[in-house]
Amino acid sequence: MSKNSFYVTTPIYYVNDRPHIGHAYTTVAADVLARFHRLEGEEVFFLTGTDEHGKKVEQAAQEQQLNAVELANNQVIEFKNLWSALSISNDAFIRTTEERHARAVRELWRRVAGKGEIYLGEYEDWYCTPCETYWTQMQLKDGRCPDCGRPVEKLKEASYFFRLSRYQEKLLQFYKENPHFIQPESRRNEVIRFVESGLRDLSISRAGFHWGIPVPENPKHVVYVWFDALANYLTAIGFPKDSQKVNKFWPADIHLVGKDILRFHAIYWPAFLMAAGLPLPKKIFAHGWWTVEGQKMSKSLRNVVNPLDLVARYGTDVTRYFLLREVPFGLDGDYSEKAIRERNNSDLANNLGNLVQRTLTLAQRNFPEGILKKGEPAESEQKIQSQGEAVLRQLRQDLSEVAFHKALIGIWGWVDSLNRYIDQIQPWFLAKDPNQRVRLETVLYTLLESLRFIAVTLFPFMPGAAQRLWKQLGVSQSIDTARWSELRWGELPEKLAWPDKLENLFPRMEAPMEEKEEVAVVSQNSQIELSDFKKVELRTVKVLAAKRVPEADKLLELRVDAGEERTVVAGIATSYSPENLVGKTIVIVSNLKPRKLKGIESQGMVLAVGEAPNVKVLTVDGEVPPGTRVK
Ligand code: MSP
Repeated sequence: MSKNSFYVTTPIYYVNDRPHIGHAYTTVAADVLARFHRLEGEEVFFLTGTDEHGKKVEQAAQEQQLNAVELANNQVIEFKNLWSALSISNDAFIRTTEERHARAVRELWRRVAGKGEIYLGEYEDWYCTPCETYWTQMQLKDGRCPDCGRPVEKLKEASYFFRLSRYQEKLLQFYKENPHFIQPESRRNEVIRFVESGLRDLSISRAGFHWGIPVPENPKHVVYVWFDALANYLTAIGFPKDSQKVNKFWPADIHLVGKDILRFHAIYWPAFLMAAGLPLPKKIFAHGWWTVEGQKMSKSLRNVVNPLDLVARYGTDVTRYFLLREVPFGLDGDYSEKAIRERNNSDLANNLGNLVQRTLTLAQRNFPEGILKKGEPAESEQKIQSQGEAVLRQLRQDLSEVAFHKALIGIWGWVDSLNRYIDQIQPWFLAKDPNQRVRLETVLYTLLESLRFIAVTLFPFMPGAAQRLWKQLGVSQSIDTARWSELRWGELPEKLAWPDKLENLFPRMEAPMEEKEEVAVVSQNSQIELSDFKKVELRTVKVLAAKRVPEADKLLELRVDAGEERTVVAGIATSYSPENLVGKTIVIVSNLKPRKLKGIESQGMVLAVGEAPNVKVLTVDGEVPPGTRVK
């Protein structure tokens, strides 16, 4: 039986670093789940926070000539600002330097120790401070940390140990009985292999430095930062005192983490909990990492993406949409300005934006009172309705499986159908014929009702845009109070309060001139006159020679026969090698004003479809003389 509460967590972020796109990613993902479960009517507890102890933080503070608390205070402000800029709806923010947390950590320690699972021993091994992890000689890679590749140092000290070695079988058994505990599947297999290869007892205290929570029975030691940090998930729900809250929210429904910290969550944390006699979380989901323009993100490469810059440039909703749509959750992904702009232009501006614009313009112009009746839906309207209801069902399924991109693809499938429906019905013609008024009303009702559904489905992902869409629709209620279970087709308010002015919810973004590439994107929805089309001269050309443009990894310089010889620069190098183009007959816009790209004058624009790296140029079926006009 499912309980009516939902507890979702992000990792707590180290305060030695400024927030970056990786932090934003997990937190946005957790926010979508939290908002989705609130729409399901569940009582949600969404937790994020900061990890403030440990050697790494202590060192960073020293470097900045601050004490660790000052450093943490500064960083907490940065994280909180970012969460507000990204419309994160967390219910709590935990800091590991809070007294309530020290109490929870001590209690967890006592429970584990009480079961005889902690002993004092001596440690001698290689320590990687950035990862806060010990490694054996065998585990090192070329004498360096096997996880991050940085230098390690030899540490020898007295330490308390957790008897992790006793948990190998119990953990394997647990993974077997709970096949969905670790996700995605490929990561689950990695964890199982790691555990099968044998577990050593784990050092869970440090005597060499003091920035941490003292061990209850021996204050010369501080608790190992990961034992300390993982306990935050219990502290925040009132462990150990508030048993009512603990019972309500524990075990957590899902811990979202990056792939690099899966081991701590899927091996150590369950073992600590088993030892303490506490239930285990229901699911650990490890997402992939972002690279930036194909490169690892790092301070030394100066390519760290500050999410606040993204919000400033693209807005909260577009940033959130991009993060969750661009990459299947669980896989690695690549960020580039071009990628986010293209997502915005194709999915939001061209597709959804166009649907909204066309529907609202027609509805508000033809029904200024805002009163529309459902009328007699024909087969085409019934199809739209049943597709919408199916999308809603599928979306709930996808989100319960943490498949954000699938959920969004589902919504956009419906948006595509709605745009096609408009193209087929051509309601602007119905609007011109007074005899078709009732039909027009039914069509517009169907479209408005679809948009009301779409606003609710988008709400977890793009709360601001969804609320604005809701307002443009003239629905006066606040979208936060919507519930999936109450969302029924045909319940569009009887009177819609149209806003004074139509707002363009999803504006296009222009690429900076130097970045513009010569790939034509064919928009499906805007309508033009034949005379407009005739202004564009499309011609077939034969590619005579092709080469890469130096220092522009996406551009190819083509020498083509267009009746006369011309040079054309095209942004297709991610999809074609020069030799594969020679001899092909392709299509260009031949009367475009010449433009310089990387210093080369391009005398035409190659027609192509798709996004890098899957761009496909348009070719001609059969032989035609070079320079033939395409009509
Ligand atoms: N403090 C620990 C977590 C303790 S949880 C009990 C920690 N903090 S962190 O600030 O270093 O990292 C937090 C998260 O950021 C991790 O989930 C990590 O995977 C994620 N990311 C760091 N760089 C990333 C990318 N380039 N891309 C995506 N996520 C990345 O670890």
